[in-house]
Amino acid sequence: MVDYDGRLSRVYAAGRGMTGDEVRRWTAAFAEYLPAGRPLAILDLGSGTGRLTPGLADAFGGPAYGVEPSDRMRVIAEETAAHPAVTYLRGAAEEIPLPEASVDGVLMFLSFHHFRDQPRALREVRRVLKPGGVALLRSQFADLMPDLFWYDYFPSARVVDAGMYLTVEEVRRLAEAAGLSAADEPVWVDTEQARTFSEVHERLKLRALSTFEHLPAAELEDGFRRLAADAERDPDKVMPLHPAAMLVLSRPR
Ligand SMILES: C[S@@+](CC[C@H](N)C(=O)[O-])C[C@H]1O[C@@H](n2cnc3c(N)ncnc32)[C@H](O)[C@@H]1O
Repeated sequence: MVDYDGRLSRVYAAGRGMTGDEVRRWTAAFAEYLPAGRPLAILDLGSGTGRLTPGLADAFGGPAYGVEPSDRMRVIAEETAAHPAVTYLRGAAEEIPLPEASVDGVLMFLSFHHFRDQPRALREVRRVLKPGGVALLRSQFADLMPDLFWYDYFPSARVVDAGMYLTVEEVRRLAEAAGLSAADEPVWVDTEQARTFSEVHERLKLRALSTFEHLPAAELEDGFRRLAADAERDPDKVMPLHPAAMLVLSRPR
């Protein structure tokens, strides 16, 4: 399990923050799959520091709920991502602190792979969704891993990352067993902002990605030394962007 109450909470905003444009591109992508009416009540499940939660309230009219088990991450959200239509709640996906059929949409943004009981979490997602409601599962999938440039610096990172995720078919099966309908394939979303090698290095070296929690110290040291040297040689190089995978689930009417 990854501990979000310690170091990760302190570096998350600087290492993984999104620009306002990135948040708006994400909410525009969510809008394509969420129900049509407005306002929509949205649950951000595993909301972390509230990177997206206020954007959900702005885009869909509120209320938005951020449910997050890490006290530290949730306090940062309350302090830095407050919004009149957002309520941050202590809780976890396996026991969502919301009533049955209370939200139109659920967002699981890079949180699903951290849930310790995914079948139970998906049953909870179905419970809190209104009939016809939609859950958006933004994740990596073991069979669709992106070829990230920085994997070349950390020999075991690719395998460690792929090991954290299920395949699309495994997630679909879990969702359907929980009473949710699942799309056949994820949709691909382009939201990432182009960043230079220097900017990407500044973010990566904060080790705000949970992958780095699983790598040996010697590998981290060597990889970050080589990464720093290359970033210094070519600081303005614009780094490749990767479309993000998102699986659309829904509660049947
Ligand atoms: C990579 S962060 C993503 C946070 C946020 N969704 C974002 O995109 O910035 C993963 C989050 O999932 C949370 N998490 C871990 N286990 C969870 C669980 N069982 N239920 C809900 N959230 C969980 C972690 O505490 C962490 O804040």
